[in-house]
Amino acid sequence: MKAIDIRRKYIEFFKRHGHKEIPSAPLIPENDPSVLFTTAGMHPLVPYLLGEPHPEGKRLTDYQKCVRTNDIEEVGDNRHLTFFEMLGNWSLGDYFKEESIPMSFEFLTKELNIPAEKISVTCFAGDDDCPRDTVSAETWKKVGIPEDRIYFYGKNDNWWIAGEEGPCGPDTEMFYDTGKPACGPECQPSCDCGKYVEIWNNVFMEYFKDKNGYRKLKQKNVDTGLGLERMTMILEDKETPFDTELFSPVMDKLEKIQKVDIIESRRIIAEHLRSSMMIIADGGKPSNLDRGYVLRRLIRRLIRHMNKLQIDLNELSTLIDINVENLKELYPELESNRENIKNTIIEEKDKFMKTLEKGEREFKKQISRLGNTKTIPGEVVFRLYDTYGFPPEVTRELANENSYEINIKEFEELFKKHQEKSKAGSEQKFKGGLADQTPETIAYHTATHLLNAALKIVVGKDAHQRGSNITAERMRFDFNCDHKLTPEEKQQLEDLVNKWIQEGIPVTKQEMTKEDAIKSGAECMFIEKYPDIVTVYSIGDISKELCGGPHVNNTKELGKFKIKKEESSSAGIRRIKAVLIKN
Ligand code: ALA
Repeated sequence: MKAIDIRRKYIEFFKRHGHKEIPSAPLIPENDPSVLFTTAGMHPLVPYLLGEPHPEGKRLTDYQKCVRTNDIEEVGDNRHLTFFEMLGNWSLGDYFKEESIPMSFEFLTKELNIPAEKISVTCFAGDDDCPRDTVSAETWKKVGIPEDRIYFYGKNDNWWIAGEEGPCGPDTEMFYDTGKPACGPECQPSCDCGKYVEIWNNVFMEYFKDKNGYRKLKQKNVDTGLGLERMTMILEDKETPFDTELFSPVMDKLEKIQKVDIIESRRIIAEHLRSSMMIIADGGKPSNLDRGYVLRRLIRRLIRHMNKLQIDLNELSTLIDINVENLKELYPELESNRENIKNTIIEEKDKFMKTLEKGEREFKKQISRLGNTKTIPGEVVFRLYDTYGFPPEVTRELANENSYEINIKEFEELFKKHQEKSKAGSEQKFKGGLADQTPETIAYHTATHLLNAALKIVVGKDAHQRGSNITAERMRFDFNCDHKLTPEEKQQLEDLVNKWIQEGIPVTKQEMTKEDAIKSGAECMFIEKYPDIVTVYSIGDISKELCGGPHVNNTKELGKFKIKKEESSSAGIRRIKAVLIKN
């Protein structure tokens, strides 16, 4: 069965079971600086898991593009991917374990025709925070999974949370038995030997974790995720996702044009290319920071592996075309962004080729200083890595060509320190939580609506929001405008926003069809990303915007609005940085 058919069957199945389909959110979360990419289907749904009513109701389903980069170094083996698609269904305080499990079982066995005897499941074993999940286990028995294929594990395996804080709960996971021989008498679904492949995870989200521990949520939710690539692999009876139709055209082409045969390199090229293309199609640009840096590493790593296989880098354009053709049915945005994707990847390749040359010059300079020593110190290897993007194996190759060795141990120590530092950085980011809805961020969110309205009066009615980014300390707001704002314009913006704040205008919320919302003149950034029923937030008759919220109840809660900076963001786009000062 093809991936597109699995996706279609999934959505149709859950629609038949009373779920509303909601659109896939972009890979780059809007208004959420706390995470780099959308990492799970539940990510855009956090406010609703916490209890806010969803305009489409209590049963939802979708397919969601996800990027997870924790395992970026593992890509090249037979299973790790940075980009993947998650099929999901949710109960927002509606059904729970007894209904969720039979639905999953029915979908796997009746819709996908997976034999029940191939399925093993795991449940939460229980601890001080949450009791043993006997309800799930009993439900599995009822649908026909025998006791000896029901396993219990602790929090490490059967508990799900995004990051450190947020909604969470015990989960039950479904595993497919590939039929490979067990690696030993201890072999179980939790084993990594490849006999069992995890296919679906149903999280029973009834807890919220913060630094004080666990508490019960207002409602009992179900959050599930089924990996499309894995399911395609199973149903196509393939050993790895790279052998499925999702990757095979590009893998085949690589095999034809390579001069050196390394399977791991082919996988890295194919995987990172797809991931980069998806990120670029959703607005990503390579840079040295956060999301941009992830994209940069993906592109540079794939280029390095093209070099390793001695593939002409001019083939990039063809490889991109092959992926667009192969994947456009699943992701039409690849086709509409084809040129942008090509330009971005090729520009980044050109930049990398420049640092490669500079790095090689630096390398020569360094070895000329070594005197009689034939070992290049780890510090130099690390500098080549850190400043010129040279992976140590490239430095090693260069070294060997010149009859030198490298001190890999020293390098690895430095690298590890650096990794720990950046890992701490990225964990810090995640800690902000998906549910980062502090009074401060909520106030800034409302302030963006006021600024958006003020811009229409001061700059012109065609000035529209092009992006925003909010933390508890400040807001950033991008909008289209052909000139640098004058001091008078900035003053007028501040004055208007502050006037509205002082007037104490109520903020109200209404649900309506997308059509009615547009007709009513509501402002909206990406209309196609909204479902048919939308929430519209109004601030008196000053502002009306399609928006998921949340917002303050009255503008007087905002404090004093102050513009800190106005600058160019990109061609034709200006950026305002502003703060709210508490009264
Ligand atoms: N949110 C759950 C996961 O990502 C379903 O596995």
